[in-house]
Amino acid sequence: MYHESLESFPKHFLWGAASAAYQIEGAFDAEGKGPSVWDEFTKIEGKTYEGTNGDVAIDHYHRYKEDVKLMAEMGLKTYRFSVSWARILPDGEGDVNEAGLKFYEDLVDELLKYEIEPVLTLYHWDLPLKLQENYGGWESRKTIAAFKEYCRVLFERLGKKVTYWVTFNEQNVFTSMGYRWASHPPNVTDTKRMFEANHIVNLANAEAIRLFRKMVPQGKIGPSFGYGPVYPLSADPSDVLAAENAKEFNNSWWLDVYCKGRYPVAAFKQLERKGIAPTVLPEDEVLLKQAKPDFMGINYYHGGTVKQNKLEKPSQENDSKKEAGEKAFSSTDPYLMQPREEQSQSPEIPMFQSVENPYLEKTEWGWEIDPVGFRLALREVYARYDLPIFVTENGLGAKDIVTEDGTIEDDYRIDYLNQHLVEMKKAITDGVEMIGYCAWSFTDLLSWLNGYKKRYGFVYINRTEQDEKDLSRIPKKSYYWYKDIIKQNGEQLNEE
Ligand code: BG6
Repeated sequence: MYHESLESFPKHFLWGAASAAYQIEGAFDAEGKGPSVWDEFTKIEGKTYEGTNGDVAIDHYHRYKEDVKLMAEMGLKTYRFSVSWARILPDGEGDVNEAGLKFYEDLVDELLKYEIEPVLTLYHWDLPLKLQENYGGWESRKTIAAFKEYCRVLFERLGKKVTYWVTFNEQNVFTSMGYRWASHPPNVTDTKRMFEANHIVNLANAEAIRLFRKMVPQGKIGPSFGYGPVYPLSADPSDVLAAENAKEFNNSWWLDVYCKGRYPVAAFKQLERKGIAPTVLPEDEVLLKQAKPDFMGINYYHGGTVKQNKLEKPSQENDSKKEAGEKAFSSTDPYLMQPREEQSQSPEIPMFQSVENPYLEKTEWGWEIDPVGFRLALREVYARYDLPIFVTENGLGAKDIVTEDGTIEDDYRIDYLNQHLVEMKKAITDGVEMIGYCAWSFTDLLSWLNGYKKRYGFVYINRTEQDEKDLSRIPKKSYYWYKDIIKQNGEQLNEE
């Protein structure tokens, strides 16, 4: 659909940027904070790039005022951050650590001072270690009760100051990486356990939303999901069917539960046949139906392309193995739909086979660059779930270089973001209702698995993997570019 001219962004559109506690705060044991699963996981040899961890990160805990000031100077309308659960409840439950709570209240006050709308993420992957040790983390229903308690503390303290709340960040990513591919905590490779843990998180999400309705009736809450459209490689109906299967497994598996309170049928039946479907109790079904979010948070990086998988027909197994050799995915891509090595083990594998998209270029880290897919993602989610969309992440990870005169000329990032914002504007012109857009990220930060080499920020942080240097903040060229976009409310974003 081509538009002669694009509609303006809504008047109060929330232009923003995002971050996550473990990736920026540092101060890993300051003022009573308890350890999280990430504090432990990053210390396991070989798990992260050059053994990087978030002990210091970019020291946002001590420098948040400086960071918020930079946000204000940029004209940011909103800032999405996450709370470290173990800062508030060092053991995940029980006694509240007032110093931790106060840190977030001070941060929120600082944002409000500059009229920056806070968006608070309750869970961006850093589960308190004690809950993992005592209960097995998300594999136990006891963790739901602990999560509810943690939410209650935050709703009580910040419910009047914070309007927008995100429950879980990319549930699809942390459950897959954590329980299936062992590249996140708790370092497990067991698909059955993944689906069980994921179900527990669904229940925690629903409990949090139910509690929110009682305690913060004027607020808005929703999960942030790592969404990617799925393309069939060809118009062969078998490829189209494979894409439908992949959509169910990669997107609807989560979004249907959030918004419709039930799992998609074909995927669920397939898991049942394999004996790895999650255990769903009758009371779970009731709970899940009572927790429709107010908005859908979408993190968009890229989608995927699939074709029919001939493994489905055992007689063609050999052919398919040969074809599988054509593909090469980066194993650190959290949106990876199906690593080649897993061809024979995974339950959904026979239902589709991931392939390279011949039309798309890639980033330095092998992630496809697909701005049109962004428009498509927004359209699909809005059409299927009828909820306003808040883009809670989108951005480019790249190696930035500081020039001799101390500037960072990140034109590639400007180009990437510009293309995505134009597509978002087209989606708005198509009729998608949008609340805001948070680029990932405001400052450079610790990439979970890629250290500080892979940078996303508008603001450069002067540090490397091994050398903390002075952690000074240097606005990049993209900082000034985004400042102007915000100032003009995106009026300059037009079809090229
Ligand atoms: C998202 C996460 O999956 O992608 C962020 O919510 C993360 O926390 C971002 O940093 C980019 O991932 P990576 O691996 O490139 O740092």
